[in-house]
Amino acid sequence: MTEKCPFQFDLMNPMTHHEKLPFEAFATLRQQCPVSYQSGAPEFGGDFWAITRREDLDFVSKHPDKFSSSANLAHPSPGGTDPESLEIMRQLIINMDPPDHIKYRRVVSNAFTPKAVEALAPIMREFARSIVDKVAARGECEFVSEVAAEMPLFVICALMEMPAEKRQKFASLVDTMIGMDDPELDVSAEDGQLAAAEIFGIAMELAASHKANPQGGTIIDALLNGVVEGEALDEFQFCTFFLILIAGAVETTRTATSQGMRLLIEHPEQHQMLIDNPALIPDAVEEILRFYPPFIHMQRTAMEDITVGGMAIRKGDMVKLFYPSVNHEAEVFGDDAEVFDITRTQRMADLKNQHRTFGVGQHFCIGSHLARKELCIMFAEIVPRLRNPKLAGAPHNLVSNFIPGIKSMNITFDPEQ
Ligand code: HEM
Repeated sequence: MTEKCPFQFDLMNPMTHHEKLPFEAFATLRQQCPVSYQSGAPEFGGDFWAITRREDLDFVSKHPDKFSSSANLAHPSPGGTDPESLEIMRQLIINMDPPDHIKYRRVVSNAFTPKAVEALAPIMREFARSIVDKVAARGECEFVSEVAAEMPLFVICALMEMPAEKRQKFASLVDTMIGMDDPELDVSAEDGQLAAAEIFGIAMELAASHKANPQGGTIIDALLNGVVEGEALDEFQFCTFFLILIAGAVETTRTATSQGMRLLIEHPEQHQMLIDNPALIPDAVEEILRFYPPFIHMQRTAMEDITVGGMAIRKGDMVKLFYPSVNHEAEVFGDDAEVFDITRTQRMADLKNQHRTFGVGQHFCIGSHLARKELCIMFAEIVPRLRNPKLAGAPHNLVSNFIPGIKSMNITFDPEQ
């Protein structure tokens, strides 16, 4: 029996992360026991090793042969870990190990060339303008549904050539699929799985309509023409790619936009700096991503007995990588690591390579360029137009140990004339 760490913070309890991410608990763990054995509820895989320092997170992430993403999946999957669901989830590249992972990743990365992403920028700008147009004169809005949720959904629909009339239905299916561990949303594991199945159906229709009317150079085209070991992706593989793109793309970017807005509202002097100097927006986006990462953790399973950070991890143990913790490490980011500061890049020019919001190693996020672009375009539109923003009540947060999402956030601002 592995001895539990004396510092226990109930990190798998979604309520631990509900009000705000538990930065104090992470600081204690980094100082007292950076690799610590923690209690975890059975539905989240039971007890686990919590990795809270960057050096150890990098080691685990860069050794997929020793720490599997496939054995128990890379993400928590409450209620979805029966053998059949596990088998399906293992078809997502995020849950693959080498050598399969390397082969499939090539197909997806070929689809996400900087050129393909850049080609979307003009319509993303137009769309950002139309999102803000809808609320700017009102002087108030529910920021999450009316602003933050719109862009990521639009982008994934554009990437996947989804007809406009399907978008709303698709949005609610995505919410159901993602909201499984939030008791308030009252979504059962079965509902979540049904939503995933319906999304599969939509993906099949999109594939069929693309095949009937193919356009070269698009992401869906690259996926459908993707070849692994001389074989084209079959329909099932295409649909699983589609699912991971949605899961990866929608809730994360929405969370970064909502949390970013909250941070700017709570730091009006930094908001003003962006109004005075919009060139700082990419720096602000990077600091938002560092300070409040949209994934709380990913997980791995040890494939052998191995020592990490001086602790003896045994084959089969679950290891969880806590991104908010490593992003607040004073040894990496300095004594003000716990401070939100959009000018941080002036002291740390390569901030984007120092934080681990997009992971590191073989599974490094394929959508990082796209996410950054979306965020920069959104804040470039929001900051100068929604002036003097304030919270109209406390934000209503998602209950999750995986994504620190905001479900709704009413704000006010100066109405645009
Ligand atoms: C702010 C937004 C985003 C954040 C914070 C984020 C974060 C991450 C992280 C931490 C991983 C690594 C998982 C691991 O090591 O187990 C990852 C992987 C991945 N992300 Fe993202 N992501 C974001 C946006 C996107 C977007 C927009 C897309 C696609 C359009 C995307 C697609 C993927 C895919 C396909 C993987 C799996 C890569 C692999 O397994 O090789 N992500 N993401």
